[in-house]
Amino acid sequence: MSSKQALSIVALISGSGSNLQAIIDATANDLPAKIAAVISNRDDAYGLERARTAGIETRVLDHKLHTSREAYDQALIELIDSFQPGLIILAGFMRILSPLFVQHYQGRLLNIHPSLLPKHKGLHTHQRALEAGDTVHGASVHFVTEELDGGPVILQAQVPVEADDTEEALAARVLKQEHIIYPQVVRWFAEGRVAINDNQLEMDGKPLDGPVIIPPS
Ligand code: GAR
Repeated sequence: MSSKQALSIVALISGSGSNLQAIIDATANDLPAKIAAVISNRDDAYGLERARTAGIETRVLDHKLHTSREAYDQALIELIDSFQPGLIILAGFMRILSPLFVQHYQGRLLNIHPSLLPKHKGLHTHQRALEAGDTVHGASVHFVTEELDGGPVILQAQVPVEADDTEEALAARVLKQEHIIYPQVVRWFAEGRVAINDNQLEMDGKPLDGPVIIPPS
């Protein structure tokens, strides 16, 4: 163990939290990070249960109780900052974030998205990959910028699309890879290996002009 203090993380979720679980499991192993809190905009998110089981603090901040996106995001910023995290991870947090929020966490806000960005931004990515006749699909971990699903991609995992795939089968194949790539990027961030400097994505101090890609196995 190094004597350096572990990276403190706040995770935002809206649902099942299986990506959260993958990162919880990695921190219980040797990922040099600690999840300080899990915040959900929904009180029925199963990820809250996962966090409690792991002894992590949980909070619910219901977007329906706020009058505007900006009011919600301001309250969310105050809640997150009360835990003083070095990294904020969006792990299935199904809300569009205001520029106010994104700018506040510039360079320390990560997201996972179930497509090979820049393909299939937004929702229903698996269905859209099938409809487009894609033969390869996957997931991406990226820094968040003001453009929805548009920030610099750090790591992508590709999966094959099978001829008889259903949306569910494809989603499950992608999700399995998400559980590998999200902890990997959090590790790179915690180790200071990946960062944004002057709007340039850097890996080990060198510009990274495209994502690291894990090809289909
Ligand atoms: C994951 O597939 C994640 O990539 C996706 O939501 C799912 C959450 O699953 N996120 C987005 O679509 C964000 N635009 P989980 O709650 O089991 O981690």
